[in-house]
Amino acid sequence: MGRLDRKTALVTGGARGLGRGIVLELANEGADIVIADLLTDVAEQTAAEVRQLGRQVTVVRMDVTDTRSTQTGIQQALAERGGLDILVNNAGVAPVHTGTEADEEDWDRCYEVNLKGIWKVSQAVIPHFVERRAGKIVNIASIAGRRGGAWIAPYNASKAGVISLTQSQARELGPQNINVNAICPGLIWTDIWRAIGGMPEGEDDPVLHERRTYFDKIIETSCTLQREQTPEDIGKAVAFLASDDARNITGQALNVDGGIVMN
Ligand SMILES: NC(=O)c1ccc[n+]([C@@H]2O[C@H](COP(=O)([O-])OP(=O)(O)OC[C@H]3O[C@@H](n4cnc5c(N)ncnc54)[C@H](O)[C@@H]3O)[C@@H](O)[C@H]2O)c1
Repeated sequence: MGRLDRKTALVTGGARGLGRGIVLELANEGADIVIADLLTDVAEQTAAEVRQLGRQVTVVRMDVTDTRSTQTGIQQALAERGGLDILVNNAGVAPVHTGTEADEEDWDRCYEVNLKGIWKVSQAVIPHFVERRAGKIVNIASIAGRRGGAWIAPYNASKAGVISLTQSQARELGPQNINVNAICPGLIWTDIWRAIGGMPEGEDDPVLHERRTYFDKIIETSCTLQREQTPEDIGKAVAFLASDDARNITGQALNVDGGIVMN
């Protein structure tokens, strides 16, 4: 018996990285899955892993910044899976430029995907949850939203917005028996780290090595447990918040960061 038997979860950005970890942990707990992502080829590979766990899975092409795409994607998910119980808003991007080089495009992209994208997908799912008087929403924020930083301000600001949006959604939807929480992941070595600065695909780029050194340095100097986090860590936290074990938790933002931030 899994904690999410007979539940269906939709995960945006579920093709790779943290999203893949979330998808697999939810499936491990018994949930059937909808992966909603731009990268349908990569999503199909993750879907194959879900099937190996004995769970049903649907891949939906979705751009979380596009109203038509979110509405159609959610309708497709509902039609194919017969209903949704859990929404995980995980799709996210980082700015291409860093520090004072960040431009308007960086600001717009972080806002449109990381923050407004959550609102857009939620708007498409909430009527279904309200009709059922049940539902769990888990928004993926970041410890970057807990504190400022000199490096990727548009990202930090969008993630602070996610924490605030989570609190508003929790207050709006609590009377309908819908729990809304956020997770603030710490440092997980995924492709998002490569996207900052627009790095090439290969592993040999010296800038990539520099970036990894910077990543390791933060772990060494700021992380109480002195180890990086994994997509599975985030998936396990999502599974908890999506389960009835967390039925009386709403409006919270849980740091899963090895003790980097303690408030
Ligand atoms: N990796 C970290 O250290 C870290 C830390 C804190 C928070 N996060 C957050 O975790 C989430 C996942 O990040 P990741 O590290 O796995 O990055 P990633 O780049 O590996 O994965 C992001 C996923 O989101 C999808 N996506 C991007 N834009 C989309 C759009 N417009 N519509 C639909 N899907 C879209 C991508 O295709 C991809 O599958 C993001 O919200 C990110 O901000 C990551």
